[in-house]
Amino acid sequence: MATPRDARRVDAFSEITRDLGICFGGDYNPEQWPREVWQEDAELMVRAGVNLVTVGVFSWARLEPSPGDYDFAWLDEVLDLLHAHGIAVDLATPTASPPPWLGILHPETLPVNADGVRLAAGSRNQFTPASRVYRESALAIATALAERYAVHPAVRMWHVGNEFGQVDFGDEAAREFRLWLRERYGTIDVLNDAWGTLVWSQRYRDFDEIVPPRRMPYLVNPAQSLDFRRYTSWALERVFTEQRDAIRAAGATQPITTNFMGFEPLTDLWEWAGEVDVIADDQYPDHGAGTSSSDIALVQDLMRSLGEGRPWVLMEQAVSATSWRPHNLPKSRERARLDSLQAVARGADAVCFFQWRQARTGAERFHSAMLPHAGADTEVFETTCAIGADLRRLRPVAGGRVEASVALLFDWPSWWAAEEPGRPTERLEALAQVQRWHRALWRRGIAVDLVRPGTDLSPYATVLVPQTYIVETDAATALRAAAERGASLVVGPFSGVADGNAGILTGRAPALLRDLLGVSGEEWVGLPDAPTPLRVDEAWTTGPAEAQAVILGERLRADGADVLARFDSGHLAGAPAITRHHVAGGTAWYLGAVVSDDALSTVLDDALDAAGVVGATSDRLLPDGVEAIQRGEALFLLNHGETAGRVTLPGPRRDLLSDADVDGQVHLAPGAAMVLIERHAE
Ligand code: GLA
Repeated sequence: MATPRDARRVDAFSEITRDLGICFGGDYNPEQWPREVWQEDAELMVRAGVNLVTVGVFSWARLEPSPGDYDFAWLDEVLDLLHAHGIAVDLATPTASPPPWLGILHPETLPVNADGVRLAAGSRNQFTPASRVYRESALAIATALAERYAVHPAVRMWHVGNEFGQVDFGDEAAREFRLWLRERYGTIDVLNDAWGTLVWSQRYRDFDEIVPPRRMPYLVNPAQSLDFRRYTSWALERVFTEQRDAIRAAGATQPITTNFMGFEPLTDLWEWAGEVDVIADDQYPDHGAGTSSSDIALVQDLMRSLGEGRPWVLMEQAVSATSWRPHNLPKSRERARLDSLQAVARGADAVCFFQWRQARTGAERFHSAMLPHAGADTEVFETTCAIGADLRRLRPVAGGRVEASVALLFDWPSWWAAEEPGRPTERLEALAQVQRWHRALWRRGIAVDLVRPGTDLSPYATVLVPQTYIVETDAATALRAAAERGASLVVGPFSGVADGNAGILTGRAPALLRDLLGVSGEEWVGLPDAPTPLRVDEAWTTGPAEAQAVILGERLRADGADVLARFDSGHLAGAPAITRHHVAGGTAWYLGAVVSDDALSTVLDDALDAAGVVGATSDRLLPDGVEAIQRGEALFLLNHGETAGRVTLPGPRRDLLSDADVDGQVHLAPGAAMVLIERHAE
């Protein structure tokens, strides 16, 4: 079997966009409809400007009605029809939802939850990634599909499974987990030391005694939990890579991907990113929440970063409402348009939806679709067509890169380990802190790349570490090198606390960063509900008039750093809360608490100014709700807010969406979007 690296074709997606421009389409599930509908589908897709659809994601029961008995005739017809209408296909392996017969014949393919309950067929995702029988069955159908369609002219991309995010605690998973642990630790003594199993008498005599972290009487060993998460991500990835390699082995040369789910806790996407030919993601922002536009911008920055800056695919989003939230708000036409343009702004070269035709039956009968139940004579279908038209105008943007000079550290094992129960406060959420820090940059129109700890940081002038719980030597070395090279480094609380096995690093904290930060601490404590006032030092000339700390604070001591603010009262009264340390070429700030927005913004402004980082427009702070980002030649301006705003342009521009010439200050009404290029770049 080909090695994963041999099986990758990272440049293949650009061949598609070179032919098609920005891809536009969605999941297409023709197996749910009689064939009379297919012709109408193809005609309406052409009317909407659809050029790429994902076919077959949930069609296993239709493709293999009984074990080994394949029926491809309907799919032949669908692919030929789509091709005849000039619509490219992202062909899916249908392995996210095995037919009921698989679970009946092989109950061990069904997942078991932490309580030991085996889950039934009748929904979807009813497989355990550990199951040998499931994996072989999935490989068989993936191989059959690839052998038949590898050279079909409609097929431009392959899509393995769907939204990998299953977890299984059953017996086969236990066996696989033990093999994974043997591989990681070699001997049981090494594992016992790494897991600290002398605590609570957990010492194992043999790997065979270990089980997944099933329901237990009390708290689970955090090291066991961390490794089970690593194992689960790996086991899911193996399901992906096996099918990917089978598709390649059958002769397919198209890019192969799967659809990620943003900051999904079950998959370590830094591990996965190297295995897909193009990054693809599903995005369902909750526009009922006030921060949805910056939160989704963060996810989009993650997707771009996972692909090392290459264009990515927005594989799914909703045209209007979802149906899986307790209360589902529709999207306005402007909102649907902004969501699509935002993805392109932040690096996507494909904008797709779940799904083409709204389902009449099944669990998702109320989920919006590009073509609703009511048909083409609807506002929703008009919205679909309008988005298609916008994307055609953006053809010159395809392939463009977002250049970021700010790096933001994020890591799955740190996230997992930091949020295990039994910590100073469950109110500190790593992702919420990352969102908050990122939002401050989003408001300034400053592009950010996400980076994995340990990555070379030399491309970046500013490095942000909102909360990275696990800091190992490689990460500390890269941070030090960045600061010594002249970068600004800002580190947030509860960072550098633990080693790679979730064991606390002893000595004054953060053990591997304290010299760099010029500050060290001895305890992490939960703060009272009422914000704790901070005393801002006069020497902090840019400092805010007042500042507070909430959630978590640290008892720090300055060991060479300047103290910019101290706790004014409470358990930590007098202790430093915000510090700044000049190192060889750069500066390192440390926040020993979750500090109020003004204080955080000021520290970030200081750090950005020191490094000479500026935003995409001439405005230091964008109007509320306005997003600005430069992608290649194009400056995207999107007003997600409720009020109009003005943005100062860096020079005369032409709007690709409206064809208007603009200069000086532009006025953006709520919902407005502009994609501006320099006139000479047309
Ligand atoms: C996910 C799935 C789709 C569909 C949508 C609905 O993204 O991949 O099959 O269920 O959610 O929002």
